[in-house]
Amino acid sequence: MKVEFSAFPKAFSGNVAVFVAADKQLLASAQAIDKELGGVIGRAISASRFTGAKGQSLTLLGQAGISRLTLLGIGKPGEFDARSAEAIGGLVAAEANAAGQKAVAVVVDVIKGNRSTPSEIASRVALGAQLRNYRFDKYKTKEKPEQKISLAQLRLVVAAPAEARRVYDRLAPTIDSVFFTRDLVSEPANVLFPVEFARRARELSKLGVKVGILGEAEMKKLGMNVLLGVGQGSERESQLLVMRWMNGPKSQKPIALIGKGVCFDTGGISIKPAGGMEDMKWDMGGAGAVTGAMRLLAARKAKANVIGVCALVENMPDGNAQRPGDVVKSMSGQTVEVINTDAEGRLILCDAMWYAQEKFKPQAMVELSTLTGAIIVALGHERAGLFCNNTALSDKLRAAGSAVGEKLWRMPLGSKYDKLIDSEIADMKNVSGGREGSSITAAQFLQRFVQEDVAWAHIDIAGVAWSTKGDTTTPKGATAFGVRLLDAWIAENYES
Ligand code: BES
Ligand code: MN
Ligand code: ZN
Repeated sequence: MKVEFSAFPKAFSGNVAVFVAADKQLLASAQAIDKELGGVIGRAISASRFTGAKGQSLTLLGQAGISRLTLLGIGKPGEFDARSAEAIGGLVAAEANAAGQKAVAVVVDVIKGNRSTPSEIASRVALGAQLRNYRFDKYKTKEKPEQKISLAQLRLVVAAPAEARRVYDRLAPTIDSVFFTRDLVSEPANVLFPVEFARRARELSKLGVKVGILGEAEMKKLGMNVLLGVGQGSERESQLLVMRWMNGPKSQKPIALIGKGVCFDTGGISIKPAGGMEDMKWDMGGAGAVTGAMRLLAARKAKANVIGVCALVENMPDGNAQRPGDVVKSMSGQTVEVINTDAEGRLILCDAMWYAQEKFKPQAMVELSTLTGAIIVALGHERAGLFCNNTALSDKLRAAGSAVGEKLWRMPLGSKYDKLIDSEIADMKNVSGGREGSSITAAQFLQRFVQEDVAWAHIDIAGVAWSTKGDTTTPKGATAFGVRLLDAWIAENYES
């Protein structure tokens, strides 16, 4: 979509959207248009439930030269923030597409009583509209035009267009990287298997990311038997994707980002029921987010040292598949009794985390995974579960998440939970055996592979990686949850 910023015209025409604050307070342009058109806005509001509350909209059709006039509720001026502006953009895009419109202009007046500048607001509206204006339709061969994305041109009308454009240009790299991740997560597993995922990640080298890929033989040499055990029932070769973006000061110890990349999770021999199993194509959402975040850091030339490590496997049952009860030795030397082959995420992550720590000595390690169904039971689809050994890190991640609309909720850890995964015959087992607290015991398993002095966070994104409904800036489908969160967290804390 083309995004343009322009100054206020003499008269508005075409598809125009204007702001209305709470209690029907028309902002300057809405007032001017209302006057010009003989009070039509006031009459339309009176005949509707529209009050200007945040998230509301009302569209008037065929008003003189303005073919569609959309009133956008911004709520109370003092409470309107960057995320509210993104949501407005998302709404504009969704409505334009629903109406089959190609072009829209959003008028960004000064909001009295609000701290943001119109340029900041305009750039966030543009970002939100872009993020919503996405559809994964590459496999649709017979689509009717009305099903396609129609919005191709967005104009922001703002007092200082050049300044707004500069603010927007700093945000814009987000869009391609979020879309890159959504594409990865949306792809079916016959197309996107570990080698193909790694091949697509290799394209990041064009942006300056150093991309390395380890195959099964190399992982075997390193002793990553727990990871390899998961992939051993698949025809597809497992891969360890290692991305390096080292653009920070030499003295800065790197940040490690780790992603779960199960390109398809059948459950293995502990096979899943058929209903809904197709969802398990997006069991690589953590790896997708980490790869998208690395892409974004490079695209905007972040001044930080960041490593991305993704464990890419396919969890399948065949004659060579891992059996329940098998004992495997991890790269860390600790042994694992595999009670349930469907608790495979933690198995691949423990070796990926150990590898990242041994090789790169990170100061902090943040891992993202669609790890447990239980986190959906606990938190629904509104927040991801955050498990963390460091309160400062947890606070920073939660703040970054709130700023970009990728919200986290901190969950507990503790030695009583940890005990539940002690095994009779090995150092640990991969499930506790009961269903209670099973997102927590999964996190406890991972924590056993965190080295001393490493600030570590595990983010369980099983409930948020995919949206069946869609939301303000995410259409239905893959959300790319994590890309913006990780980028914002690094920007805020590791770049001077
Ligand atoms: N990939 C699943 C978790 C999942 C479930 C993600 C639903 C997204 C939506 C994970 O590998 C898994 O199967 N977890 C099991 C763990 C159990 C065997 C302890 C689960 O949650 O049931
Ligand atoms: Mn599983
Ligand atoms: Zn899984």
